[in-house]
Amino acid sequence: MRVLRDRPQLVAMHREWARKERGTIALVPTMGNLHEGHMALVRHARERAQRVVVSIFVNPLQFDRAEDLEHYPRTLDADLRKLTEAGVDAAFCPSEDDMYPQGDDPPVRVVVPVLSEILEGAFRPGHFDGVATVVTKLLNLVRPDMSLFGEKDYQQFRLIERMVDGLDIPTRIEAIPTVRAPDGLALSSRNSRLSEDARAVAPELKRVLDEVATVCRAATRADADRIPEVERRASDRLREAGFDPEYLSVRRAVDLKEPETGTPLAGQDLVVLAAAWLEHVRLIDNVRIRGAADASA
Ligand code: PAF
Repeated sequence: MRVLRDRPQLVAMHREWARKERGTIALVPTMGNLHEGHMALVRHARERAQRVVVSIFVNPLQFDRAEDLEHYPRTLDADLRKLTEAGVDAAFCPSEDDMYPQGDDPPVRVVVPVLSEILEGAFRPGHFDGVATVVTKLLNLVRPDMSLFGEKDYQQFRLIERMVDGLDIPTRIEAIPTVRAPDGLALSSRNSRLSEDARAVAPELKRVLDEVATVCRAATRADADRIPEVERRASDRLREAGFDPEYLSVRRAVDLKEPETGTPLAGQDLVVLAAAWLEHVRLIDNVRIRGAADASA
């Protein structure tokens, strides 16, 4: 596996691939500290493309809290070993200077209005502008035919999909299902910061989301109006379990708008998303609700 430390090395690789047979390229963008969730993306990429590039870059622009950036786990050597074993062709690990030569206030930022302001965006101002900016740069640099993202960061996936569509970036965005621990907790780099007690409670987040999904799937016509109440009760359940929820919301899967009340949930493709603090760790998760209710119920 090639380890590319800067742009010139990436450009040289492109030149070499162009001289031989370029083949299809899949990009898996990451911030490192790779776990099974990332490796599932890599395996999917391996199956879909002739060449797989994984980027490892802790993007300062997307951190709304300095403390979070400071504590973000950096495990480059172990990450590179995992990627080598997984048969990745190249790891692109640029420095901050390389990605942002003008420092932490770059002259251009990419903004995806509305989608970047709701849910996660409402609690993490500027976060999605940072994500959209770095992903645009990575896509322009690596020029992949496809790029893979985890469904765990569902809003991020929809935002990037919209950005690529809106800016005519010639790549396909694919979402890969969330990888979970046996007790249901979605894998995340943040899980390693949970205390033993918090780790035991953490799977409750997914259980509560599953319960909301079950209520929505069983909903009758009139039940669309009851969503706010269902959301409130689910947030209370999280509080009782020891979480401090920021949001728990049932949304349309395609654009994350609120489902229309007064119309049947039947056939709607929905997703229930939540973010909640457990001790000092912020967890997010979501569950898809496909074709929610039976209108005849
Ligand atoms: O999901 C992540 O790890 C990051 O937000 C991403 C997409 C690599 C951009 O920095």
